[in-house]
Amino acid sequence: MTDTLDIQITKTSHSRLQETDFDNLPFGKIFSDHMFVADYADGEWKNFQIVPYGDISLSPAISALHYGQAFFEGIKAYKHEDGKVVIFRPNKNAERANKSAERLCMPELPEDIFVQSIAALVDIDRDWIPTKANHALYIRPFMFATDAFLGVQASTTYKFMILTGPVGPYFSKALRVKIESYYTRAAQGGMGFAKAAGNYASTMMPAKKAVEDGFDQIIWTDGSHHEFIEEMGAANAMFILDGKLVTPVAGDTILNGVTRDTVIKLAEAWGIPVEQRNVAVAEIIEGAKSGKLTDAFGAGTAATIAPVGSIYYNGEEYTLSDPATREFSQKVLKTLDDIRYGRIEDTYGWNYVV
Ligand code: PLP
Ligand code: COI
Repeated sequence: MTDTLDIQITKTSHSRLQETDFDNLPFGKIFSDHMFVADYADGEWKNFQIVPYGDISLSPAISALHYGQAFFEGIKAYKHEDGKVVIFRPNKNAERANKSAERLCMPELPEDIFVQSIAALVDIDRDWIPTKANHALYIRPFMFATDAFLGVQASTTYKFMILTGPVGPYFSKALRVKIESYYTRAAQGGMGFAKAAGNYASTMMPAKKAVEDGFDQIIWTDGSHHEFIEEMGAANAMFILDGKLVTPVAGDTILNGVTRDTVIKLAEAWGIPVEQRNVAVAEIIEGAKSGKLTDAFGAGTAATIAPVGSIYYNGEEYTLSDPATREFSQKVLKTLDDIRYGRIEDTYGWNYVV
């Protein structure tokens, strides 16, 4: 840990808290009163500031806009009944942010700066943390290139910012998913493992088509032959197949999810065999037919544990068991909630106390 970060704080003169309807919190549309901003120039991070949330002014030539040199993170903060505020595993996101930064030729941010800046911002806007079940303060750190230069090369200046906002559940029902057999999200040697803005841009058109066809999410498959499962649009894909927790290896092409890691650690503690390996589409479909696939869900910060209701593949749709009756995902969700909302002891030390 370095010394406490020196952050210049300018508080808003008009809080929007009172006019916010906490009974209606669509994901990602409501922002708390403040945001964090830092600049990278001359080889160092500086100008750490917390300012009122609002528009910023930038050159139209910044390389983030033209070449997509940008990445983000997603984290949640929770408020316990006794008023204690915790952030869930922010160090894991700090680690992953630096992997994204390295792949995108962007400057790393020391882990303690990442975590301290989030904690300072959450502390200032702690009244924005919703306390209702399934609700949290969503934290969106992001970094982008700010050189005003149209040549294709890594920028020399960057901004790191953090926004927060109260959110309810990202998905409101069991997902009808489609296994993709044409489009590709990421290829070997690409940047699928990074939380790069561009990874999301490339999924929007296929995802829009899937929604038009009545699906909620795409399950991406490998870029070579579409034979193996990769991940979902905003979550890692996890399955209970023949009594084992099966999930694709977090290699080059998928995001190494913090929730995925958390679910694996819980399964291991419960003595459930865990297999992180290549997961063939064929075995998932076979399992859906035979009944050996007893659970399927997406795991992610925004998504939490999102049950898959049915899987569409090659013209056939396979309906899975009623999510309410699924032993594993129900237990994971409850345990995770109990830890995050402080109802049971945090034996893993996952809650970072603000
Ligand atoms: N995969 C993708 C593509 C995502 O956008 C997310 C969400 O962050 C995840 C997986 C899950 O990652 P995490 O659990 O760290 O939120
Ligand atoms: C998250 O879970 O934090 C994500 O990044 C999902 C997001 C793309 C909505």
